[in-house]
Amino acid sequence: MIYFGRRVSFSMGHRLHNHALSDAENRAIYGKCNNPNGHGHQYTLEVLVAGEVDPKTGFSANLPLMDEILRREIVERFDHYDFNADFPEYAGVISSGENLARIFWDLIAPHLPLARLRVEETEKNAFEYFGENR
Ligand code: NI
Repeated sequence: MIYFGRRVSFSMGHRLHNHALSDAENRAIYGKCNNPNGHGHQYTLEVLVAGEVDPKTGFSANLPLMDEILRREIVERFDHYDFNADFPEYAGVISSGENLARIFWDLIAPHLPLARLRVEETEKNAFEYFGENR
């Protein structure tokens, strides 16, 4: 089994906020990340897909398909949008890197043999998710 990685990058706004908590508690937990009008990141998303090497091509993954899925499910959906303002389906979701990693996984996993997904929120913050079935 070989693991093939591919990355995409997109800009997205968000605000860390838990509606179940008071404004003071939110400020205490999230600090500047709780600023009412939000802030943005240049996110990098990397997926690793598992596959056998095709002896005919030497490849383990369908790269055009990977690019199409990443473009359709992630970049077109989220690039230049605000996660907490623009997506009613995610209303109330705390947009931490941890939760975003699981949301991105759920969007991509139906289409690709995902083995690992990594979300880089900043140069210093990264989150990795391997799915629930490990
Ligand atoms: Ni942030």
